[in-house]
Amino acid sequence: MALRAFYAVWGFLLEVAIAFGPVPRITWEHKEVQLIHFHESEVSNYSTLLLSEDKDVLYIGAREVIFALNAVNIAEKQHELHWKVTEDKRTKCAVKGKSEQTECRNYVRVLQQLNDTFLYVCGTNAFQPTCDYLNLISFALGGKNEDGKGRCPFDPAQSYTSVMVDEELYSGTSYNFLGSEPIISRHSHQSPLRTEYAIPWLNEPNFVFADVIRADQNSTDGEDDKIYFFFTEVPVEYEFVGKLMIPRIARVCKRDQGGLRTLQKKWTSFLKARLICTNPDKNLVFNIINDVFILKSTTLKEPVIYGVFTPQLNNMGLSAVCAYNLSAVEEVFSKGKYMQSATVEQSHTKWVRYNGEIPHPRPGACINNEARASNYMSSLNLPDKTLQFVKDHPLMDDSVTPMGDRPRLVKRDVKYTQIVVDRVRALNGSIYDVMFISTDRGALHKAISYENGMHIIEETQLFPKFEPVQTLLISSKTGRRYLYAGSNSGVVQSPVAFCDKYTTCVDCVLARDPYCAWNPHEASCIDIFKENEIERSWIQNIGGDASSCSDKVSENSLQHTFKHGSTAELKCSQKSNLAQVVWKFKDDVLRVESPKYRLLEKALLIFNLSEGDSGVYQCLSEEKVKNKKFSQVLAKHVLELKKIQHTTVGPTTAAAPTEGNSDVPKVSAVSTEGSTAHTLTTHMVPVTTARIVTKPLGSVQTSAPSNTELFNSIPDTVPEKTMFLKSNDNFLLMFLFLFFFILFLCLLSYNCYKGYLPGQCLKFRSIMLLGKKKKSDFSDCEQSVKETLVEQGSVSHQSGEQPKPAHDTGYETEPDCGNGQLQAGDSQASREAKDKPFDVKCELKFRNNSASFCDKSLQRHPFWMTPSQSPMQLETETGAAQNNQFELFM
Ligand SMILES: *[C@@H]1O[C@H](CO)[C@@H](O)[C@H](O)[C@H]1NC(C)=O
Ligand SMILES: *[C@@H]1O[C@H](CO)[C@@H](O)[C@H](O)[C@H]1NC(C)=O
Ligand SMILES: *[C@@H]1O[C@H](CO)[C@@H](O)[C@H](O)[C@H]1NC(C)=O
Ligand SMILES: *[C@@H]1O[C@H](CO)[C@@H](O)[C@H](O)[C@H]1NC(C)=O
Ligand SMILES: *[C@@H]1O[C@H](CO)[C@@H](O)[C@H](O)[C@H]1NC(C)=O
Ligand SMILES: *[C@@H]1O[C@H](CO)[C@@H](O)[C@H](O)[C@H]1NC(C)=O
Repeated sequence: MALRAFYAVWGFLLEVAIAFGPVPRITWEHKEVQLIHFHESEVSNYSTLLLSEDKDVLYIGAREVIFALNAVNIAEKQHELHWKVTEDKRTKCAVKGKSEQTECRNYVRVLQQLNDTFLYVCGTNAFQPTCDYLNLISFALGGKNEDGKGRCPFDPAQSYTSVMVDEELYSGTSYNFLGSEPIISRHSHQSPLRTEYAIPWLNEPNFVFADVIRADQNSTDGEDDKIYFFFTEVPVEYEFVGKLMIPRIARVCKRDQGGLRTLQKKWTSFLKARLICTNPDKNLVFNIINDVFILKSTTLKEPVIYGVFTPQLNNMGLSAVCAYNLSAVEEVFSKGKYMQSATVEQSHTKWVRYNGEIPHPRPGACINNEARASNYMSSLNLPDKTLQFVKDHPLMDDSVTPMGDRPRLVKRDVKYTQIVVDRVRALNGSIYDVMFISTDRGALHKAISYENGMHIIEETQLFPKFEPVQTLLISSKTGRRYLYAGSNSGVVQSPVAFCDKYTTCVDCVLARDPYCAWNPHEASCIDIFKENEIERSWIQNIGGDASSCSDKVSENSLQHTFKHGSTAELKCSQKSNLAQVVWKFKDDVLRVESPKYRLLEKALLIFNLSEGDSGVYQCLSEEKVKNKKFSQVLAKHVLELKKIQHTTVGPTTAAAPTEGNSDVPKVSAVSTEGSTAHTLTTHMVPVTTARIVTKPLGSVQTSAPSNTELFNSIPDTVPEKTMFLKSNDNFLLMFLFLFFFILFLCLLSYNCYKGYLPGQCLKFRSIMLLGKKKKSDFSDCEQSVKETLVEQGSVSHQSGEQPKPAHDTGYETEPDCGNGQLQAGDSQASREAKDKPFDVKCELKFRNNSASFCDKSLQRHPFWMTPSQSPMQLETETGAAQNNQFELFM
């Protein structure tokens, strides 16, 4: 068992090389696509969303406010309701040690449609959860102020989930102020039910999702509707050092009434099982569930459960999507084995598979026709034996395995937070489940699975401030498909596809987006779900075969004249992350590796132009899909030698900040000549002769204005690194050079001292060591460290405190330096040590003593080389001015 648990968490650590997962084909920056935003000043935490599809209203529960927005355009606010905490309650909450400004507010956590005229709403209300009825006609609260205990968390930081089923609220949250009593409950006037407060039922759960799955109306077994809960909890069945977490699925039956004697007012149908999301080939184990979406579509035989997961120790930034079919879940609950606790060696309990006799009716099963035939008409009739069994055995031994026994998608360097799935019928009739998965950096990935692989169609930056997306909703009403995403700062509405961004047939088809198809008559990429009728001539191929496209190669080309020795910048931008840009000159592939050229992200630079460079340049994008290569001409430029002589400025002017770009002609750039250290950026803008601004070819001309913007943004093409050179003194360069030189010397000496370097060095080493009579060995070095630190510390050491041994002090200061923050209990000594960083000391020591100290300080403080650290550590006696320059550099 311990080994099983070990693999459950740390299994993935054994894997060294892990694929990064598919790359999103297109990355839309925040401003590149049209999104609709909603946020109000002074309002934050837009964490609860509810969509009313028939009324086209999006309700938002934020901090102390509820909004009703037009779902077609969320910038249109329809209603707003303030739901504030009373002054009195806030004070009381603050007295209990909570933050008056943040925690002691009313965070709306439950927002559910009760019936046509009412929403059921709950808020944390300064740690006194309260629920009320929101009248949708007057948009006012009923003032009932029901106690929200068990329906809404006390603490806004605690997890919660809820679902309204037939005017009854099912919720998973915590039941007390401390958040130590978890509960899954049903709020109902007739038969409120809850979970038993016992560790085997719920053990520190983190609720993420709940939804109902209705019984098949056509089946004859008279099954009940079931409500499923998804959460991560501390498992009782694994013993492990440290807190292991396990993802779970739990379910209850809608018609459960509780038991008569045993399990009175408690669920008689509560069962839970482990959800598995692992990749056995790669030893990847995902045991934190972040969100779930249940796809229920009329075209589906059974609902499919999609979940997003991350590993518990996510040191590699992995995320996964696993899909489960409902029959696999039902199989576990209705036929699987139970687990039971067994006492071993007196005090120790262990959870093992229960192999004994199972009472009849089956514990935890819903009342169906079979049970009714045996005269068990409701859970109140169930025999005590069955109820006692389910009370003691809520956990199944079998686990729910994903479809295909592996994740649908594993992606590295991303943390997925939320998921919604849309089922769409492509033009040729095939059905695709399009997954929209949000990240903790405000982005959205859109992916489809195709022939056992995943294709990420696009990545869209929904929020400008890379913040976590906390809720995600989809409306898949015909003709009106939108996504709504909520975060701490606001809500964003996005279309499900950006078909009109694709300007050629090849581009439209290569997108492999089931929403988009190429309409050859209009020569545009259209959203097929926005059209009234589907036409046969439309071109779409989810496999990415664009061979039926016949994009006309535009004859438009851009003429440029240039003069000898100047530099030309030929623009060409390529959106697809899966494509390669290829330049052709006079129909031959250009060898851009040669120093004459430099390939930038959105342009090609040609230096030192001469007669031989005139001719036609073509920029092509080549994209390979399944061994087929599709290339399209993105831009065509014609270069011509200019006959008229310009005498104003020669081709080589003084100011030459970097190689290569130095001879950009400055025909009209007179005004910028003033400051010598000015960057390339300014030099390039005013150039007239050789500066080339490309207009997109062919159909591109009809594209959105943002596209042209893109083409015109010349300064972008300058590599970012050169920005550093903007700073106007060479002193900084000198300083850096010195800094690295000293660093190099230290390292050299250290390696030499350690005998790592061969040959002459050893000679040098023996001379050094002999000269000092072998004094500076390791302990000596330590001594010197000790002396230095004690010396520093003694300045401010409090009375009676013994100087710490050098070793301790050295390590103690390390974490402080590491994160740039001082811990509360830090001694003055370590502060002093921090104020005078080791690089300075190293330098001094090195000059007048042996290298042994240097190596020591280097060893202990590797941080001063890493650029990600805070600039504080780089403080030197040279003062603040230099510090700033360091920041600039880093
Ligand atoms: C909606 O629910 C409320 C509260 O239970 C009730 O008062 C009201 O009559 C219901 N309205 C309808 C149309 O069912
Ligand atoms: C509310 O939003 C703020 C940022 O606006 C964030 O710092 C805080 O953690 C959020 N609180 C909750 C409970 O989500
Ligand atoms: C139920 O049966 C009816 C008629 O037999 C059929 O039209 C309907 O599609 C079935 N519904 C489901 C959910 O299978
Ligand atoms: C559901 O999943 C189970 C287990 O993976 C599999 O045996 C079964 O065929 C699946 N059913 C469907 C309809 O995909
Ligand atoms: C639709 O096109 C895709 C991609 O080429 C193909 O895999 C699929 O089999 C096609 N479906 C039908 C029903 O022809
Ligand atoms: C520019 O090209 C000419 C010949 O075309 C060559 O003589 C000259 O050395 C080149 N200059 C530089 C700076 O490469």
